[in-house]
Amino acid sequence: MFKMRALAATLTLAAALSSGVHAINKITRSGRYLYDSGGTRFYMKGVAYQEQGAVLATTGPFSEPSTFIDPLANDTACARDVPVLQSLGVNTVRVYSVNNTLNHDSCMQALSNAGIYTIIDLTLPVNGSIDRASPEWTTNLLDLYIGTINSFAKYDNVLAYNVGNEVVTAANETSALTFVKAAARDVKAYLNSKSLNILVGYAAIDMDSTLLGPLANYLACDASGQGSGNNAIDLFGLNNYEWCGDSTFQQSYAAKTQLFQNFNVVAYFSEYGCPTPSPRGWTEVGALFSTDMSPVWSGGMAFSYFPATSDQGSFGMVTINGNQVQTSQDFDNLKAQYGQASGPNSPSQSSAGSSTYPACPAQSTNLLVSNTLPPTPNDAACDCLQNSLSCQFTPTTSNTTGILGPLLDTACSLIGTAGGNCNAISGSGSSGQYGAASGCDPSVKLSFVMSQFYEANNRDPQSCSFGGNGTVNTAAPSSVTAANNVASSCLASATGTSVPTAPSSAGGSSSSTGSGQNSGSNGGNSNSAMSAILGETRGLYGAAAMFVITLATGCYVLA
Ligand SMILES: *[C@@H]1O[C@H](CO)[C@@H](O)[C@H](O)[C@H]1NC(C)=O
Ligand SMILES: *[C@@H]1O[C@H](CO)[C@@H](O)[C@H](O)[C@H]1NC(C)=O
Ligand SMILES: *[C@@H]1O[C@H](CO)[C@@H](O)[C@H](O)[C@H]1NC(C)=O
Ligand SMILES: *[C@@H]1O[C@H](CO)[C@@H](O)[C@H](O)[C@H]1NC(C)=O
Ligand SMILES: *[C@@H]1O[C@H](CO)[C@@H](O)[C@H](O)[C@H]1NC(C)=O
Ligand SMILES: *[C@@H]1O[C@H](CO)[C@@H](O)[C@H](O)[C@H]1NC(C)=O
Repeated sequence: MFKMRALAATLTLAAALSSGVHAINKITRSGRYLYDSGGTRFYMKGVAYQEQGAVLATTGPFSEPSTFIDPLANDTACARDVPVLQSLGVNTVRVYSVNNTLNHDSCMQALSNAGIYTIIDLTLPVNGSIDRASPEWTTNLLDLYIGTINSFAKYDNVLAYNVGNEVVTAANETSALTFVKAAARDVKAYLNSKSLNILVGYAAIDMDSTLLGPLANYLACDASGQGSGNNAIDLFGLNNYEWCGDSTFQQSYAAKTQLFQNFNVVAYFSEYGCPTPSPRGWTEVGALFSTDMSPVWSGGMAFSYFPATSDQGSFGMVTINGNQVQTSQDFDNLKAQYGQASGPNSPSQSSAGSSTYPACPAQSTNLLVSNTLPPTPNDAACDCLQNSLSCQFTPTTSNTTGILGPLLDTACSLIGTAGGNCNAISGSGSSGQYGAASGCDPSVKLSFVMSQFYEANNRDPQSCSFGGNGTVNTAAPSSVTAANNVASSCLASATGTSVPTAPSSAGGSSSSTGSGQNSGSNGGNSNSAMSAILGETRGLYGAAAMFVITLATGCYVLA
């Protein structure tokens, strides 16, 4: 009897201890700083944690991945790495892409037990991110993001979700920021609707201050003009490689720190660690956690745990051989630096101030944005539209990544030569004008344009062929007027901002990531030249291309 009671007492204590170990402290934002639940300021001592995927062959400086390896889905690899991450002294890892159909329980629990938070980028390579060359914010991306949020909702150690990484790399791409801001708005609304108190962030490529300052201010401002944070990010990441070798705060970081002097939300280095000279001494850690920088920055993510290369050099800190991890001098140096670093515990949470959201900066040649954001993508409206269309995109391959863009270009150019346009499926981040179907996914957009062409040809079946990619929808309303009325009423609900709803397949879609510098930023994909309405046609249609189309008589004109 006595023995049994003693045993029971021991078990209770063990349970209490283990649940104590498991409870990771919740981190929240107050103004521009992060705090733990005890009110102590939180700085990220982080490392990027993702194996590099296959890299797309590109001609420019941005080598982007075409595939990814989900680092949180391999239990064996996590069990191998988490003790190493713990020994490195990190409290946060950044992961660039995850497959939301896979199970992440084991890795997330192991990280949580080790006191390690995660920053999860919601984007995937190739077609799973906002495309800098042809930006849009559409149902397929929203559903992907929501699917990932749903699959990570049960974990206690998600610090933030990033809605984009290095989407904008130059002044002529800044109109994409309007779509990034809409993504942040909708992800925030979704998280709120699920009572998930997780930060929403963006990670920027480093740029000239005249570009970077306006970009950051635009993402953190209030586009509604009412001081609301509904469309502002919580967390601005800067991928910064300015400190090389034995530098100094003045030489490497003073200018960027000055630039963010009056910033209103949290800022941190979402990547850092110049690869030359090698091995890296990581002396920048001392500066990053010093009072020179702590008023502005909340730590950073050293790049990278796994080997990764770019045209700048090699970034890895370990070599993996099956179940063995070999650490490098880089690793030991970073470990020593993180061991010594401790950011000042100031300001106190009570004096950090409440969140403020200034009005957005004005449009300029370096910031081609609007305060009118695109509408919340609406699955129900787009499904309804798709069902009403008289000619539908019915691809013969499940991999539509390579054919959507060319087909859209061709279809839009055909409509264009007849005096029509693709405005209904297009949107402009700089003018703030968005077609009624601009939030639908690329395949619905394509069906819409195909249907325009088909209607313009008085429903001649040949004009719905598109080289075998189109099929007449016999269930469509029997006249173009009726079809147009249905389409317009479908889209009537797809305007403005709403709380996004989860797609019926709550897992979301998936794809791949490569981690790495410049990863996952460019959709690089589907509607590459939608604006080039009058581009060449490619002879896809055979006889169909010879039809005389007179748009005035039969075309969708969405109200
Ligand atoms: C998981 O990681 C281990 C160790 O690196 C590797 O051997 C194995 O192939 C990985 N499993 C999968 C499914 O990728
Ligand atoms: C921006 O300019 C660069 C260099 O001129 C060009 O390669 C790129 O296609 C342009 N991007 C857009 C979105 O216009
Ligand atoms: C990307 O393309 C693949 C293959 O076509 C598709 O299955 C997936 O749904 C697409 N993802 C997104 C987010 O559009
Ligand atoms: C899909 O098609 C694209 C372009 O045609 C190709 O690069 C890619 O490898 C394909 N993806 C798969 C999973 O087959
Ligand atoms: C569909 O469209 C693509 C891209 O334009 C084209 O290459 C292909 O031949 C078309 N037809 C079929 C049956 O896939
Ligand atoms: C996610 O994993 C599933 C199962 O392995 C796979 O079929 C799917 O292609 C993956 N998705 C992506 C986007 O890699």
